[in-house]
Amino acid sequence: MMKKIIALIATLGLTIGLSTVFAGEGDLAKGVTTFKSKCAYCHSLIVQDKKISSATSGPDLTGIASVRPNEYLRIYMVNPDKGRKDFKDIYEKELKGKYNMKMPRIALSDADIDNIIATLK
Ligand code: HEC
Repeated sequence: MMKKIIALIATLGLTIGLSTVFAGEGDLAKGVTTFKSKCAYCHSLIVQDKKISSATSGPDLTGIASVRPNEYLRIYMVNPDKGRKDFKDIYEKELKGKYNMKMPRIALSDADIDNIIATLK
C-alpha cells in the first residue's frame, strides 16, 4: 500500500513537473512545417543539426531565440514595422541596411508563433 502511494506521488510529481517545464512551449515539428511554408523562402535555419532552409534574403534565424527577447520575436513575425519601432536598438544595430528587402507582415496564429519559436532556440 505504502509503496503504491509513494509511486503515485512520484508519478504526479513528475507529471506536474513536466507540464510546468513545457507550459506555453511550442511544438517543434509543427514549427518546422510552418517555417517551411511561411519563412523558408527568405530565411535560413538549422534545427538540431538538420538544415531546414538556406535562403539568404533575410538573416539566418538559427538560434535567434537565444539572442533576442521573446517579445521582440513575437512582434517581429507578425508586425515587423512595430518590431523595428519598439526595438529600435536591435533593428538599427543588427538589421538596418543589411538586406535588399524588408520583412513583410505575415499572418500567424499564437500557436504558430509558439511553434516557430520552438524552432529558433
Ligand atoms: C519575403 C521574405 C521574408 C519572409 C517570407 C520572412 N521574412 Fe523574416 N525577415 C526578412 C528580412 C529581409 C529581414 C531583415 C530586415 C527587415 O527587418 O526587413 C527579416 C527579419 C526577421 C527577423 C529579425 C531577425 C533578427 O536578427 O533580429 C525575424 C525574427 C524574422 N524575420 C522571422 C521571420 C519568420 C518567423 C518568418 C515566417 C513566419 C519570416 N521571418 C518570414 C524577410 C522575410
